[in-house]
Amino acid sequence: MRFFVFVIFWFSLTVSAAEVSVLSPNKKLKLVFSDSGNIAQYRVEYNEKVVLGSSKLGFTFATAAPMYRDFTLTEKSRNSVDVVWAQPWGEQTNIRDHHNELIVAFSHLHNKENMFSVQARVFDDGIGFRYIVHGNNERTITRELTEFNFVDSHKATAYWIPAHGRERYEYLYRTTPLQEVYKAHTPFTVKYDGGLHVAIHEAALVDFAGMSLDKQELGRFSASLAPSHDGALVRKVGPFKTPWRTITIGEEAVDLVNSYIALNLNEPNKLGDVSWVEPGKYIGIWWGMHIDKFTWGSGEKHGATTERTMAYMDFAAEHGFDGVLVEGWNKGWDGDWIANSELFSFTQSYPDFDLKKVTDYGKEKGVKLIGHHETSGGITNYEAQMGDGFALYESLGVSQIKTGYVAHGQNLKVKDNNGNMRYEFTDSQRVVNHFIHNVATAAKYKLSINTHESVKDTGLRRTYPNWISRESARGQEYNSGWAAPNPPEHIPMLAFTRMLAGPMDFTPGIFNFDYVRINDGGKEWGKGDNMRPRTTLAKQLAQYVVLYSPIQMAADLPENYLAKPDAFQFIKDVPTDWSETKALQGEVGDFIAIARKSRKHKDYSGDDWFFGAVTDEKARTLNVSLDFLDSDEEYEAQVYVDAKDAHWENNPYAIEITRKTVSSIDVIKLDLAPSGGAAIRFKKL
Ligand code: NOJ
Ligand code: CA
Repeated sequence: MRFFVFVIFWFSLTVSAAEVSVLSPNKKLKLVFSDSGNIAQYRVEYNEKVVLGSSKLGFTFATAAPMYRDFTLTEKSRNSVDVVWAQPWGEQTNIRDHHNELIVAFSHLHNKENMFSVQARVFDDGIGFRYIVHGNNERTITRELTEFNFVDSHKATAYWIPAHGRERYEYLYRTTPLQEVYKAHTPFTVKYDGGLHVAIHEAALVDFAGMSLDKQELGRFSASLAPSHDGALVRKVGPFKTPWRTITIGEEAVDLVNSYIALNLNEPNKLGDVSWVEPGKYIGIWWGMHIDKFTWGSGEKHGATTERTMAYMDFAAEHGFDGVLVEGWNKGWDGDWIANSELFSFTQSYPDFDLKKVTDYGKEKGVKLIGHHETSGGITNYEAQMGDGFALYESLGVSQIKTGYVAHGQNLKVKDNNGNMRYEFTDSQRVVNHFIHNVATAAKYKLSINTHESVKDTGLRRTYPNWISRESARGQEYNSGWAAPNPPEHIPMLAFTRMLAGPMDFTPGIFNFDYVRINDGGKEWGKGDNMRPRTTLAKQLAQYVVLYSPIQMAADLPENYLAKPDAFQFIKDVPTDWSETKALQGEVGDFIAIARKSRKHKDYSGDDWFFGAVTDEKARTLNVSLDFLDSDEEYEAQVYVDAKDAHWENNPYAIEITRKTVSSIDVIKLDLAPSGGAAIRFKKL
């Protein structure tokens, strides 16, 4: 008996194997923490089957004691939450936050000071956990040990882009066996052969480096934090909380799209009254530069002239757009603007652009100028001028700014205190903090920010609702001729990968595919080369519903909309703010169908439903049950779908526009062409 007691005592001190677990509210999803072998770890089970096997937790630091091994686990606290909160704008008004929380502590066997906690929340559709690191010391993280260990990795397919390359997040998604992934950005989407879908991402990336995933062995990945210019990953003083590591789980691909765990894990709105944040639609002096009709820089082809802006404002007013984006208005674009970030001025216009005159004209017309701050990665140059740039725009009634950080790979330029230029990744701690500083400062001037070449979205729009959209993926600009265009699968791929992070300013709506662009080598790109959107016209329309953003651009030149007024009507009718969203059908990279209900707004009744569907290179027939419509109501379905002989490659404009009366008991059959789509307005009768 004495001997027996001794054995238990001995085990608990050295190789204890405690397990503490927490279930989702529906009890299907289980998160288990363990200290087996005195290694801090977790695993995830779904329907009693292991999905992520034993995966390590912890950190190593430059000098502080490592959180690496010799840890024991204790349970700290539990909590259950079931609340509904409202988004000021979004793909859905009300978001339900229903989860069970567990906080555990891992304490070092021999060093009492060395301990950390993990706070976990388990929802029906996924898990979030974050580290709480205690103690008052200074720490430089040299490794995050968090693992995501996919079991049965030979039976899974991954959809991913490589991390930390020259083009940041602007890569074509790859579809490979999970075991062939080596270094991936998140959201990282995986499909098991049995149909289960898993997406790894993070929420609330604040004062930390962005996490990507490094392959360790077979299905085992470890967190990889973007390094700073000096090689340190993250610097912290005193106790800190990390961003949440998230694991979204769904039985079908659309379950990932219908999940809001990342928003739930972010802090509530910090800005108070945000009625000044305005969703809406815009046009811009923009595509003209991408197809080489205009230039950003000064000269004969300068796009941003006073006259052209006023003409665009006329067009915007006539067709119901809220804003006109003007790029290339300010000094700094001449020469190699990508290399000359230090030359950008955020207050001085080119002489042929009268900022006051165009904003005054816009006020008469009820159209806002949308501001533009391209930094080409010059963080210090921008930070020095940001306040002045914001004040100028605010004084003229501008309420939204598109920012840009075109700079290759690890090339965002930050001057240190000694005046030395340092080069940073887009997702380094310093640059992550810059983006938040930019958005929080903009809020003081009641300005909303649409960041291009931004760090990935981690749901911070909940905390900063003026972070109205961002790019962070290959957008429409890649179809303009200066690069290999996005392939037919791109949109149904984005829908299940990039879009899991949050809104994207993709800039849909190219109507003329027959432009000719003289590329840098003097070669004409044009119709024959297919250096243009690889979609049908109907698929351009469907993007307004499929790719969520509270601000949507009509990206093409005004004259190209006037040439196709029937199809243009859909862009005029479609809202950008929704009370409900339902992803209905789809497979990653193949197709998706989504329905959204309009939110009540000055220009919209809030009664209509909208629908968008897109397919990859394969033609596809969709049978869509209209049971998402409000029951007992009749709607006029205004259908914009590929015509019979439509094909992205040789007949992209063929579109059929029809109207019929429907209700929620109907099923609608849609024939999508290769790289085609369908867009429908269900107008309540
Ligand atoms: C890249 C942005 O994504 C694009 O929209 C913009 O026109 C250029 N930068 C210039 O700022
Ligand atoms: Ca871009």
